[in-house]
Amino acid sequence: MQIITTIKELRAWRSGVDQVAFVPTMGNLHDGHLALVKEATEQAAHVVVSIFVNRLQFGQGEDFMSYPRTLDADAAKLAAAGVEVLFAPNEAELYPHVSQSYQVEPPHLQNELCGAFRPGHFRGVATVVSKLFNIVKPNVACFGKKDYQQLAVIRGFVEDLNFDIRIVGVDTGRAADGLALSSRNGYLTEAERAQAPQLYQVLSEMAAEIRAGRQDYAKLEQNAIVRLQGQGWVVDYIEVRHAGDLQIAHAGDAHVVVLAAARLGKTRLIDNLEIHLE
Ligand code: PAJ
Repeated sequence: MQIITTIKELRAWRSGVDQVAFVPTMGNLHDGHLALVKEATEQAAHVVVSIFVNRLQFGQGEDFMSYPRTLDADAAKLAAAGVEVLFAPNEAELYPHVSQSYQVEPPHLQNELCGAFRPGHFRGVATVVSKLFNIVKPNVACFGKKDYQQLAVIRGFVEDLNFDIRIVGVDTGRAADGLALSSRNGYLTEAERAQAPQLYQVLSEMAAEIRAGRQDYAKLEQNAIVRLQGQGWVVDYIEVRHAGDLQIAHAGDAHVVVLAAARLGKTRLIDNLEIHLE
């Protein structure tokens, strides 16, 4: 595996290969990331993974400085997984100016769900992903459904801004007890880690009720919030939405997703479950 740190070298490599599948990450790789890498190896002959902790998508007071940076261990995992190129630019390479003047502005969805609690987050994601797309020029790019709203924002700008890239969504990788794998799980204390699967359990129960025919989504959401609060969680939101565009779900919708963000101590966890009705 080649480790490339400059845009110039990446472009030189890119000019010599045909089909490329791309997996953008912020590193500290776990099995959820590696499932995307596996999907990428099935999608194209040449796989590029990027590792870049993107300052633009972190709000003030968020964990940009403390975000785990584990490049050597990550590189070993990617080499073992058959990745051809690890693109790991430093900040000056991707953001040579003090501020990034031109940014990709998502529509109102960026202010809903996670966006309501992380102002500017999805603008930062859309901006860095579009820069990476212009550098790597992949034919296919893989993203996790774990970050469902992020996937929707990326599908949205790829379509609206005519990026010629196929976006593949990959199912959420989970620990044996159901907890969605996340680099931020490492922030949990032992007691919090034991409690963390409650988020997935509450979502699973909501999904079961919806599959059984319940359509009073507001009531279901409220019950789930109260249950988690009773167990010591601070809930940002739990909402049932349309799976495609993430608009508010209505009774009778055939494909919905239940999305949640909640905090245990200092750690904010997100999760979601898609539900196909009919
Ligand atoms: P990061 O959190 O490192 O995630 C990189 C990719 O891995 C994303 O597509 C994310 O959805 C996926 N992923 C994370 N945990 C997963 C899990 N348990 N199962 C399946 N996929 C999982 O998401 C980002 O980085 C950044 O916002 C990025 C897109 C790289 C832009 O900076």
